[in-house]
Amino acid sequence: MTTRIRIRWGRPADAETLARLRYDFRTDLDPPAETPQAFSARCATWMHRQLAPGSSWLCWIAELGDEIVGAVWLELIEKLPNPVAERERHGYITNLYVRPAHRGNGAGTLLLRRALAECESRGVDAVLLWPTPGSRSLYQRLGFAPPEDLLERRLSRPLPEAVTPDPA
Ligand SMILES: CC(C)(COP(=O)(O)OP(=O)(O)OC[C@H]1O[C@@H](n2cnc3c(N)ncnc32)[C@H](O)[C@@H]1OP(=O)(O)O)[C@@H](O)C(=O)NCCC(=O)NCCS
Repeated sequence: MTTRIRIRWGRPADAETLARLRYDFRTDLDPPAETPQAFSARCATWMHRQLAPGSSWLCWIAELGDEIVGAVWLELIEKLPNPVAERERHGYITNLYVRPAHRGNGAGTLLLRRALAECESRGVDAVLLWPTPGSRSLYQRLGFAPPEDLLERRLSRPLPEAVTPDPA
């Protein structure tokens, strides 16, 4: 089955389909805060812009015949110029998604491998992502592991009172 899946670049013309995939992905995880129509219009506009040449975002699509069955997005994040021997960009992988009817056939692995190959060819240092619980094994198989040297501060989540920063 894997051999029938084709991975190709996302193009501006794919924006509306990709926006619907994005809606399905996120609303499977959390209740929607806007209508599918409002979100799709907003998201398709954003994606159409990011799929044009010159964007820091890259996208690949998994196709079976002429049906888009999944996609993944990668943002290349510039680091400051570095005087030591260290790669100067990071990669942020997001929205790896395969339609439910096509899961378990290797499309997700092919998409992730394609994004990682691009990271390697573009001199990416760390590849970052936030996994869903079910996808951890897929990422671990391809070399992802929890970092020992990274801190995350979620501004959308309140700090315990004892450690609230003093604004002064
Ligand atoms: C994650 C996902 C893209 C994998 O696509 P796929 O084509 O089924 O992947 P493959 O066939 O190459 O590999 C199967 C792996 O997917 C993962 N997986 C299986 N069911 C899953 C689920 N319900 N949710 C998330 N990941 C799942 C597992 O790691 C599985 O490997 P395992 O069975 O050895 O543990 C797909 O399951 C999906 O779209 N899930 C919902 C969205 C999601 O969680 N995306 C990850 C964003 S961080």
